Amino acid sequence: MTCLEMRGFQIWKGYLDVATQEAVVAVVRQLVLAAPLFQPDTPYGRPMSVRMTSAGSFGWHSDQRGYRYISRHPDGMEWPAIPKKILAIWDRVTRLERPPDCCLVNWYGEGARMGLHQDRDEADFSWPVVSVSLGDDGLFRIGNRTRGGKTESVWLASGDVVVMGGDARLTYHGIDRIRFGSSRLLSRGGRLNLTLRVVT
Ligand code: SIN
Ligand code: MN
Repeated sequence: MTCLEMRGFQIWKGYLDVATQEAVVAVVRQLVLAAPLFQPDTPYGRPMSVRMTSAGSFGWHSDQRGYRYISRHPDGMEWPAIPKKILAIWDRVTRLERPPDCCLVNWYGEGARMGLHQDRDEADFSWPVVSVSLGDDGLFRIGNRTRGGKTESVWLASGDVVVMGGDARLTYHGIDRIRFGSSRLLSRGGRLNLTLRVVT
């Protein structure tokens, strides 16, 4: 297995085989039935192009009041538990004793993107964030610990896993665009990204 190191991010290419990717998609489909995808507003008032939901004790949310974790889905139901298949990826790649308490599910349809941002709504940045990519390729851009400066990009394909930890935990990152229809994992195309986070 090859691991690229880019600005402190560990990029595990092809970490999940196709059978595992299919199994993870199946549990994500169940999860989305229990906690439907929604399209949050940015604090600046514009809707995000990505649709999202979460599993775990906390789910990530954004609206006019800002970015934060909330303990229930905006429709009122509890977030579903993080599926074991997904927790197993965290265990295997981090070898940490503590499990994550949020799995954010990001769904990128055609034209969706995510601007450069830091993941900084968690209490303790010594825990890494682990990202799992499924479906269409996404162009991942990595910046710096402060806004601005030179950036580097890498295409993330289905089955790739990225560990954002250590000195890179607060590094800016985002998805410029996806190559819609580049993968056959999801029958109607699009990209799923799961990020596992320790929130408290
Ligand atoms: C994120 O930063 O929350 C998502 C990154 C990705 O979609 O790969
Ligand atoms: Mn992020």
